[in-house]
Amino acid sequence: MTELNKIAHKILENGKGILAADESTATMTKRLESVNVESNVENRILFRESLFSSKGMSKFIGGVILYDETIKQKTSDGKKVTELLAEMGSIPGIKVDTGAKQLAGSLDEKITEGLDGLRERLKEYSKLGAKFTKWRGVYNISEKYPSKLSINSNAHALARYAALVQECKMVPIVEPEVLMDGDHSAKNCFIKTSEVIKKCFDELRLHNVDLTGVILKPNMILAGNNSKNQISNEETAKLTVKCLKESVPVEVPGIAFLSGGQTEVQATENLNLINKYNDTNFVMSYSYGRALQQSALKHWAKNTKDINGTQAVFDHRARMCSLAAQGKWASELENK
Ligand code: G3H
Repeated sequence: MTELNKIAHKILENGKGILAADESTATMTKRLESVNVESNVENRILFRESLFSSKGMSKFIGGVILYDETIKQKTSDGKKVTELLAEMGSIPGIKVDTGAKQLAGSLDEKITEGLDGLRERLKEYSKLGAKFTKWRGVYNISEKYPSKLSINSNAHALARYAALVQECKMVPIVEPEVLMDGDHSAKNCFIKTSEVIKKCFDELRLHNVDLTGVILKPNMILAGNNSKNQISNEETAKLTVKCLKESVPVEVPGIAFLSGGQTEVQATENLNLINKYNDTNFVMSYSYGRALQQSALKHWAKNTKDINGTQAVFDHRARMCSLAAQGKWASELENK
């Protein structure tokens, strides 16, 4: 087992998953303003440190993806965020892309940027304690999208990123997200997601990335949020497992899904069913942003001094996700 493979397994062991607390300042501002809290540096760390210091962290969260601002911050009692995470037994990670911009040549689509100067930034993050990283490629879906240009250019960027990350001895999370937005069918989502993932692994191989030291962060197979032909959660689970079985090389140690705009319970239920149908050797867990934080954020916004209450809401969500990552969740547990 290589060092990178060990880190990947450690993050996802025993039903643990990843907390994606890597919202950029612009995205975090949207989230805070949606619950009428001012987005300033103090509030951003206050909410995040409430989650990072909760009991559920040590039990259910094997890794946390941080944002550039957060990895350099200290908590209100003067501890480095990375030290707090280490005390909680959770591995610090960092989002290293600089966002999705318009793709020249196909302006309705996006290409993720951030390769310039990445080697130097990775060295800095590694010194700050990061052991893994994240880069998100984002794909629109419709009859004509994603285009070959979008599929190829994002896969190329993801592979160059992953190779640089492994050079710095960290585990790259490779996140190709086919968006939920639109009226596409689940069948189309299956076809396009399969094509996107296969192309990513072709490029990762070409760039000599060690696949045993990578975590894949994919979307689940869903009909578009405006589609009239929604499918059942059972069908989502079966199609998701089929897609990953056919597209992901067996060497990959773990898969951690994004929630992508699903509700907290929907993301939990789907993950649970995926694990019921998982007949592969891949660990299938979570790397959720909104589906782990939404209720906690709403609770905290009502009274930002109620840290215990906020932590209880977060702990519940993390416990539900962890049960789902083991196929042991049931809807009745949501009320306990
Ligand atoms: O890149 C996306 C985030 O890391 C996951 O966020 O679970 O809210 O989609 P989400």
